[in-house]
Amino acid sequence: MYKTLIRPFLFTKNAESAHYFAFRWLKRLFKIPGVQAISQSLYDSKYTSLETECFGLKFKNPVGLAAGFDKDAKLYNELSALGFGFIEIGTITPKPQAGNPQPRLFRLPDDQSLINRMGFNNGGLDEAIERLKNRKTNVLIGGNIGKNKVTPNEEAVNDYLICFNGLHPYVDYFVVNVSSPNTPNLRALQEKEPLKHILNSLQEAGKAFSEKKPILLKIAPDLTEEQLLDIVEIVNETGIDGVIATNTTISREGLNTPKNTIEEIGAGGLSGKAVKARSTEVIRFLNEKSDGAFPIIGVGGIQTADDAIEKLKAGASLVQVYTGFIYEGPGMIKRINKGLAKWKENKA
Ligand code: FNR
Repeated sequence: MYKTLIRPFLFTKNAESAHYFAFRWLKRLFKIPGVQAISQSLYDSKYTSLETECFGLKFKNPVGLAAGFDKDAKLYNELSALGFGFIEIGTITPKPQAGNPQPRLFRLPDDQSLINRMGFNNGGLDEAIERLKNRKTNVLIGGNIGKNKVTPNEEAVNDYLICFNGLHPYVDYFVVNVSSPNTPNLRALQEKEPLKHILNSLQEAGKAFSEKKPILLKIAPDLTEEQLLDIVEIVNETGIDGVIATNTTISREGLNTPKNTIEEIGAGGLSGKAVKARSTEVIRFLNEKSDGAFPIIGVGGIQTADDAIEKLKAGASLVQVYTGFIYEGPGMIKRINKGLAKWKENKA
């Protein structure tokens, strides 16, 4: 039904309006008594073989919703009834910010991909905390944190600390996002020294809480091999719990969409099928060079169980989806989980 009815309708709207329309519609639908329970029974993966333990947390299945879909923690309760094993909210910044001017989200149907330059539009930390206090789900929630656009890189660590301390009681794990291409200079924080400073500061801040919450680092697919080797070293040195690979790419290589359309769209991060191969390559490289020393969440272009298996074989322990969810709809999560369960059965 999603691909024959809902998607054609949503795709008549501009991409960002369609997103908010679907959001409002889901919110209303789930207010009807019984809908949450029906959705849960329709979409939940019931395969105990998919239960995955990773960085000390128990995931009911390894397929999560990537950051950026529920930036403001507005819909995680409802989304948790669609079969996800975990949901990552954010990127959250300390203060609210509007993000880049619209239009800033574009579909590339010929590539089953998206380009976005949202720019961390979000309602800020305080609003997100209020919503997370209303948590009704036991699906694991990750908090993806970033810095405000106006905060200079030299002070970025304070923004990450503010978000970390504020969200600590309400999320199950953290993701340090230094890899969005849409905040000027953010990706410079992926360099060795600034990154170590941020991660060490967060590790130190974590000691003030009685419960330890895992900290992961989300990286760009555009890092060179040398930079990826630095990442392995940094993860080992700082003792953080893992890596999410990858964010969107600034590359525009190998697209089917006409060049002039791509040029008209302009700057932004490319996601979906177009980033799939590169993100798998990054996962494989990190896994090999680190000797599997830390868990990796694989994300980039996953639409099918085979795509997810490709990431797991490359060394990921869990996977996440975003763009595939837009193109395939909620049934995709169940299909991926079903395929993964079958794969595991055959392996056993
Ligand atoms: C994203 N992504 C993202 N990532 C992140 O860490 N913080 C964010 O705020 C966002 N925002 C965002 C908005 C939009 C519109 C898209 C399409 C993507 C990146 C996302 O989480 C994921 O890493 C990439 O999109 C690659 O996965 P998919 O989309 O190919 O499955």
